[in-house]
Amino acid sequence: MRRILVTGGAGFIGSAFVREFHRDFELLVIDNLDYSGDALRIRETGVPLLEVDIRDKETLMEMVEDFHPDAIVHFAAQTHVDRSIVDPEPFFSTNVMGTLNLLQAALETGVRRFIHISTDEVYGDLPPGSDEKFTEESPLRPSSPYSSSKASADLMVQSFVRTYGLPVLIVRPSNCYGPWQYPEKLIPYSILRLLNGEPIALYGRGENIRTWLHVDDCVRGIRIVMERGEIGEIYNLGSDEERRNIDVARLIVRYMGLDENWIEFVNDRPGHDFRYALNTSKIRSLGWEPEISFEEGLRETVRWYIENREWLELKYSEVAGFVKRWQYRALKFLNKHK
Ligand SMILES: NC(=O)c1ccc[n+]([C@@H]2O[C@H](COP(=O)([O-])OP(=O)(O)OC[C@H]3O[C@@H](n4cnc5c(N)ncnc54)[C@H](O)[C@@H]3O)[C@@H](O)[C@H]2O)c1
Repeated sequence: MRRILVTGGAGFIGSAFVREFHRDFELLVIDNLDYSGDALRIRETGVPLLEVDIRDKETLMEMVEDFHPDAIVHFAAQTHVDRSIVDPEPFFSTNVMGTLNLLQAALETGVRRFIHISTDEVYGDLPPGSDEKFTEESPLRPSSPYSSSKASADLMVQSFVRTYGLPVLIVRPSNCYGPWQYPEKLIPYSILRLLNGEPIALYGRGENIRTWLHVDDCVRGIRIVMERGEIGEIYNLGSDEERRNIDVARLIVRYMGLDENWIEFVNDRPGHDFRYALNTSKIRSLGWEPEISFEEGLRETVRWYIENREWLELKYSEVAGFVKRWQYRALKFLNKHK
């Protein structure tokens, strides 16, 4: 595998993949630089970026044929659950139809590997009190428009292996964190609020549980699947670092030299998944394991955002505007369904 096309390479995880591996491969990034995409994330690597929308089939086909990649690593997606609740359409047009265009382009050109980046959210959630973990065989029970668009894409991708013999592998990562994440997601959003003198706003009572994976561990796992995984297989990718959101918030305020008075609770997200947890023995059998503990990774992440406050601030007005619109709509929704 030498030439790799990275879709969504200007996003949070895609750009970490590019920064980590740009010396080992010939990379080309395509990204439509949507609100969460930012070319700054990969500027220092010198990797070329083409501003292409994966929904634009004709341009995509031409571009894939011209570059003729050995592998495609497909990160490009609409990724925020709250946004998918407000407006599901772009989630299906990009995550499903955009993925279909890419599969067809891959088929036309002929690639050795197509790595589809899915999510643990396709399994739905686990109830309070359960200590179960999802395996790759667990049924798909997505709860939000976001996760259902990703689950739809997974099924489509699998059909391309069976019907056309396309060499696809699916990776299902858990919640990632680290530098350069768009500050609408829990960790950077919380840091941003604290830097602006506002308390962290947690949904419900902050009891929801997520498994946290440092973005550098995530991209190392994706590379291992690309190089050692079996065609047609699915690989869960996650750590054992399960944390309640309230405990994540407590660590963030502590690392920022503050106390728990800086945490407040807001109305819960409709359909909020309670807990995700993954059995990751399959990917571990390929030789991958996480190297960064949550405490260490989070401390460094807090430091990164403080040192790169300017970048965070650039995104602030946009995120704050969205959150206000979202909270207004969520409140209206919740009042109607009391
Ligand atoms: N962040 C997480 O915790 C997490 C966890 C599990 C799975 N994932 C999956 O990993 C992938 C990457 O997630 P992320 O956190 O980096 O997301 P992100 O929102 O930071 O990045 C997505 C990128 O895709 C680009 N994009 C969006 N629509 C596009 C389109 N139509 N055409 C071309 N480019 C488009 C955006 O500009 C952006 O650069 C996604 O498929 C997501 O579902 C993310």
